[in-house]
Amino acid sequence: MYLSNLCELAGGQENLTRVTLDDEKLYLTVKDPALLGDSEHPFSLASYNGEWVAETSPLQPVLRDELDAIGSQIDADLRSKAEEFLCPTKCDYRPLWHIAPPQGLLNDPNGFIWHNGEYHLFYQWYPYGCEHKDKYWVLLKSQDMVNWTWSSIALTPSHWFDSHGVFSGHALSHDNELYTFYTGNTRIGPDRLRQATQCCAKLQADGSFKKLGPLIDSLPAGVTPHFRDPKVIRWQDRWIMFIGAQRDDLIGRLAVYHSQDLTNWEYKGLFGDELGEFGYMWECPDVFELDGQYYLIFGPQGISSGNEHHTAPHHNRICKVEIDADGLPHLSDLQVLDYGFDFYAPQSLQTPDGRRVLCAWMGLPDEVNHPSVNNGWIHQLSGLRELKFIDGQLIQAPIKEIAQLRGEKQLLEIDNQGVDLNSKSFELHINLVEGEKLSLFKNADMSFDIEYKNGKLVFNRKNTQVMEGDLIREFSLKNRELAELQIFADQSSLEIFVNKGEAVVTSRVFTPKDATQISCLTINNEAKIAQLYRLNTPSSVYLSKP
Ligand code: FRU
Repeated sequence: MYLSNLCELAGGQENLTRVTLDDEKLYLTVKDPALLGDSEHPFSLASYNGEWVAETSPLQPVLRDELDAIGSQIDADLRSKAEEFLCPTKCDYRPLWHIAPPQGLLNDPNGFIWHNGEYHLFYQWYPYGCEHKDKYWVLLKSQDMVNWTWSSIALTPSHWFDSHGVFSGHALSHDNELYTFYTGNTRIGPDRLRQATQCCAKLQADGSFKKLGPLIDSLPAGVTPHFRDPKVIRWQDRWIMFIGAQRDDLIGRLAVYHSQDLTNWEYKGLFGDELGEFGYMWECPDVFELDGQYYLIFGPQGISSGNEHHTAPHHNRICKVEIDADGLPHLSDLQVLDYGFDFYAPQSLQTPDGRRVLCAWMGLPDEVNHPSVNNGWIHQLSGLRELKFIDGQLIQAPIKEIAQLRGEKQLLEIDNQGVDLNSKSFELHINLVEGEKLSLFKNADMSFDIEYKNGKLVFNRKNTQVMEGDLIREFSLKNRELAELQIFADQSSLEIFVNKGEAVVTSRVFTPKDATQISCLTINNEAKIAQLYRLNTPSSVYLSKP
């Protein structure tokens, strides 16, 4: 029996919300099990995780065209459903100049690229609630990386290969075409067995994306289904794809494939042994060249932070990559990208003038309880920053384009009594010496505190509306008389560049709306002079469909 006949027996196309398959069975998820008709139907019906699934072993091979047609119909249904969630909810925690979802949950930035005269930035989105479920890709565009406009819901979890999430990946601009490479995530059967395939979708002239399906549809030997987040680069005469992978013995590694045509991919192995046992999974690899040196950014999960206060398993690192004559990577010289509470899954692009600019998810995988959830949305993207290496040390700076948001420069005298800015959207430049403490987003009861003590810079969010996660982050500033801070605030986030970008601390910080004071406890009890720019909101609509 052909798939189209099976669909009819399952209540018709309108009754289907997903189609998945494994080597033995076809699974049709149906809205109304009663439409399956009488007991003559060839399905066995089961309810898993709140969904009715009609399973069958098809007697005919399932045809790809038929599957694609069902996927396209589900895509249309999902789009019209998600369109209902594009109006941003009102919320005092909403950022004024960072990218946040109109409703639902945002996580990783995806497909960050300059293509045909525009910056393209996608993000992972679950429209219907503040939880990690079947992900979509949303596309925003910009000319300057500050003013973003809504473009489209680019990809929905519609097809048999990505029905439980169009997971993270990158974009490639090649011969005037935009390709997105992503992981198709599916969950099969009662045990929700994870299937991960590496897929491609191509931008069409009308702005839609055509799904080309899985390019890599099986797991390499010795790798678990935690196999995701492809990144493709051009290297010499070939393409290289890097994929985050977990070995069967639960060690994170980097899988590598080569291709001549972007379609056929040859597996080359798992890499990164030189880092030893470095976490149980490596998510979101991004490999790029900067000033003649290749680097890898990735998310090792489950490594030790080396600090008693830092208990989150989800980390970020950047390291050098030597690509040998065979096109195979060798890793060394790890550095931390960010010391904050909320920074994960970063990815980067190269600007037309050659800068390497990074964007990250300002959030962490396990944390879904923020005060903004009461208003139907959670998480945001980080501000954009430029990466450089000076004498081998990673140096990060806010992109120069952000300066267009600045108001007049103000000199502020800040003492322990505090100054009320009546705003939570600003850029502040202030220096601390040992023994001093700066408090931000402050009212009579709450504040976020930064203290320079015992050679460490300590960031404390204990006294905020934090609902889960760690309370302290800290790192050493050995032999530094001054901690020079450049701080970007945006309603419920702080991004703190320390000592001209030697370290960055990115965090969501929730305090009440009236917590707009800054104070500084100085060692001589004298007021401190700081520079302040209020930051304006970009004129474009970037949150949602205009
Ligand atoms: C990282 C991540 C990726 C995955 C995506 C799913 O935050 O877990 O590995 O592709 O999120 O949303």
